[in-house]
Amino acid sequence: MPNLTPEEYFAPFSQIIPNFAAFCSKLSATLPVHFRMNTLKAPVRETRLRLEQQGIALVKEDPLKLVYRAENISQPGHLLEFSLGHLHSQAFSSVLAAFALGPEPGEAVLDLCAAPGSKTSLIAQLMQNKGIIVANDRNPDRLIPLRANLKRLGVINALITRYPGQHFPRRFFFDRVLVDVPCSAEGTLRAGPNGTFRQSTWASQKLTRLQRDLLLVAFDLLKVGGTLVYSTCTYSPDENESTVQFLLKTRPAEIQPIEMDLPHSPGLEQWKDTSYDPSIKYCWRIYPHQIDTVGFFMARVVKGS
Ligand SMILES: C[S@@+](CC[C@H](N)C(=O)[O-])C[C@H]1O[C@@H](n2cnc3c(N)ncnc32)[C@H](O)[C@@H]1O
Repeated sequence: MPNLTPEEYFAPFSQIIPNFAAFCSKLSATLPVHFRMNTLKAPVRETRLRLEQQGIALVKEDPLKLVYRAENISQPGHLLEFSLGHLHSQAFSSVLAAFALGPEPGEAVLDLCAAPGSKTSLIAQLMQNKGIIVANDRNPDRLIPLRANLKRLGVINALITRYPGQHFPRRFFFDRVLVDVPCSAEGTLRAGPNGTFRQSTWASQKLTRLQRDLLLVAFDLLKVGGTLVYSTCTYSPDENESTVQFLLKTRPAEIQPIEMDLPHSPGLEQWKDTSYDPSIKYCWRIYPHQIDTVGFFMARVVKGS
């Protein structure tokens, strides 16, 4: 693949990304480190103090509790507090997907594509380890870090399964389902230390079929009235709005607004010659020049009768 600049690589999206020049320029900056404080293991105040005593500057990402941008640190995995499970290094946008799902203590939650468990462990934290989470992933190699992360972070209400999500057994129904699908990961693309823009080698078209299958099964596994979050870390409308539109056409699904006060763009109304359902505007597109994090898409869906 030739070495393209961000402007060249993302040119097909120049009309849909607001302030395209600012977006491209942000991709030359290094991705900040974000910590999610893990109250299953330690109070936030204690973890903050321990980090600040080591000279790590923390900036709270309001209005969310638990999330801090950490400055003066390059290898968060080397911290003792990381090994102790007092914190998890996690992209800000990844945290938002678990908050948008809104799990409550005592509920039954399915995380259909869970490894390495960043969102599963936050879901457990929001549930105060009460109720049950089924953390599923089809890739056996990724179950190793999933299991390690859940253990390190003190999660005791999750069990792990290894189904291809599209064949997950329909024997039990869930209050909430997270379907954080494999995607072309364009939202993770930033310039490396030598200034070269890293290119994605994923073939987006091959993924859209799998993403639709996973989303339909995730929806079918919800109880009536239950809530689902569909998320990707990519900008491609084919993987985002078109997938959600496919769900709306085939199932009694309703898109709900995501109640958080943070900068974002609404889901698209149109892409090429396809017009989307008006409720798709309630989906969130997160661009790095709006929130300095991995680019992201999420839809909050409720199951009607
Ligand atoms: C974006 S990652 C999930 C990240 C995870 N939710 C987190 O926050 O740590 C997508 C995951 O989907 C898994 N996956 C790929 N195909 C799958 C399938 N057919 N069924 C279930 N999981 C699948 C991959 O192994 C990968 O771990």
